[in-house]
Amino acid sequence: MSDQAKTLVAPVHIKDIQPYVPGKPIEDLVRELGLDPAKVVKLASNENPLGMSSAAKKAIEASLAGLERYPDPGGYHLKQAISKRFDVPADWITIGNGSNDILELAGMALLEPGYSAVYSQYAFVVYRLATQARGAQHIVVPASEFGHDLDGMLEAIAPNTRLVFIANPNNPTGTFLSNAAVTRFLESVEQRHGTSVTVVLDEAYNEYLPASDRVDSIALVKRFANLVVSRSFSKAYGLAGLRVGYGITQPVLTQLMARVRQPFNVNTLAQAAATAALFDDVFLAKSAAVNDAGKQQLQSALDQMGLTYVPSFANFVLVKFDDAPGVNQALLKRGVIVRPVPSDGLPDWLRVSIGLEHENARFIEALKAILAERTELA
Ligand SMILES: Cc1ncc(COP(=O)(O)O)c(C=O)c1O
Repeated sequence: MSDQAKTLVAPVHIKDIQPYVPGKPIEDLVRELGLDPAKVVKLASNENPLGMSSAAKKAIEASLAGLERYPDPGGYHLKQAISKRFDVPADWITIGNGSNDILELAGMALLEPGYSAVYSQYAFVVYRLATQARGAQHIVVPASEFGHDLDGMLEAIAPNTRLVFIANPNNPTGTFLSNAAVTRFLESVEQRHGTSVTVVLDEAYNEYLPASDRVDSIALVKRFANLVVSRSFSKAYGLAGLRVGYGITQPVLTQLMARVRQPFNVNTLAQAAATAALFDDVFLAKSAAVNDAGKQQLQSALDQMGLTYVPSFANFVLVKFDDAPGVNQALLKRGVIVRPVPSDGLPDWLRVSIGLEHENARFIEALKAILAERTELA
């Protein structure tokens, strides 16, 4: 950095942001290690190994013709589809450039210096970023068995708290909160704080849960005016590259978030693909089934290897190692990309996304070889 750049004036809370570290792209690894791209397996960003549904692909092809025009700023068709699918009014819906955008919009609408956000230790890293970007205070509540301690979070809410973030399931730990636990938490927040504290329930991995386990978040959003439910098309719907997600909340909060939203925040292809994907139940069911089988495959291999992991409710597994950075480097050399998570406060762990059977097998085989080498050297 040049001396001039170092002296640029910017708010301290912006200068202090620790940037988000994404999963390593396949291209970067290929460039760095000269590997054959066809032999690289990426299990690092919780993407859908099946790709996207053919209905979404067809919708993208059909909308290629109109790309010289701006996207629909109101997301009419996508909001109608979400409204129909979940039985919520269209004016309760905010569409986002990924659900990351919904989290940021909640931060932008509600946080400012002098106020705080509550979130859990090991919770999704964007809660920290969205809070820090507003110059707001962080109240980080110690995790309970790698998951959210909702009682602790309730007690941690301060007079200056405006926002609580909950990830369910959580990334990177894969932990899950039941409908009863989330409902109880919302009731208590309402009793103690009325609508002065908004709760964001981030359900990016919701579609991977068996229907019977899911939080009834649509019923909850109808009951609690201070709840934002955030969902993603990046995971089970397989549209991560298009960047599209949505938030559902009652109109007052929806309108607040609309004030800080970029007018054209969701592109045309993303809107079309998401609208089509939303009703492709066959693809969604297949995504969940492939994930369940892959989870079983990975977790039983980890059991066999005697490794510690956090049982997952999502499309990844968090695994503990004596030397996570060393194992990560050894995996990269063998063409397997997983995700170190030191910036989540978990330097001894690696997060492994669940892939197709042969991809999971590549990871298992590479890991077995690496651990065997290390035992020999020890
Ligand atoms: C818990 C959680 N929430 C939200 C997101 C954001 O996803 P996207 O912006 O792709 O919808 C992610 C992505 O990994 C996540 O893990």
